[in-house]
Amino acid sequence: MKKKYLIANWKMYKTVQEATHFMEALLPQLKAIDGPELVLGIAPSFVHLPTIGALIGDKKSISPLSNSIQLVAQNCHHEAAGAFTGEVSAGILASIGVGGVLIGHSERRSYQKEDNLLLAKKIKRVLENGMQPFLCCGESLEARKSGSHQAVVQQQLQESLAGLTSKEIEKLAIAYEPVWAIGTGQVAGLDVITEMHTFIRKFLSDQCVSEKVPILYGGSCNPQNVKAIFNCPNVAGGLIGSASLQVDQFMKIVMALLE
Ligand code: PGA
Repeated sequence: MKKKYLIANWKMYKTVQEATHFMEALLPQLKAIDGPELVLGIAPSFVHLPTIGALIGDKKSISPLSNSIQLVAQNCHHEAAGAFTGEVSAGILASIGVGGVLIGHSERRSYQKEDNLLLAKKIKRVLENGMQPFLCCGESLEARKSGSHQAVVQQQLQESLAGLTSKEIEKLAIAYEPVWAIGTGQVAGLDVITEMHTFIRKFLSDQCVSEKVPILYGGSCNPQNVKAIFNCPNVAGGLIGSASLQVDQFMKIVMALLE
């Protein structure tokens, strides 16, 4: 059975107290679930990573699923080290037990002007440090309207994965997140999701990359719509923003993925 993935992207939400309360409520609920085929990632603010890491470590005995909880960072710098005030390197993240890093989230592409060539460097840093890159891709509304959505995603993948061997690409996860669906309440239709995930799968297999590379969907997922999304072909799980901020909603999404 293929692994399923669910990543909670908390963006710039939650104080450390709120993050702690969330985890203290979430972890015991995972008790009821068994099945190690799920990777449950929590991507909080950098500041909260050690706190959350310690809470996950404490609860390892609670359920087999606790072993599948992964600390995920929302970003990292593209250089290994240096005079980059305010930045965090992949090596620093690995040294505190982070297992995965979001790369190229659309908010960073848009507000920090991150481009595919920069993302390619970040991916290499993440891999060098033994972590899993979660490469985000997705088209704008204009690209969708003009019919260039596949070309945009193809270019994002081609340029960000340039220089990697197929074995290296097999260590990644891809998250398809159409920009117009992120934080808007306007989830992509099942036909749109199926078409793009099939397209990404074909792109990967053309690079001789195994079917095992998970392709996640993100953008306005909620407990009501996820079941149908997770049932689409080539959807290995979700990258969840606002619906990951409340434990009860997030747990409903976990259950929908495992059903
Ligand atoms: P959303 O965010 O679920 O709030 O749309 C998803 C994301 O930004 O990863």
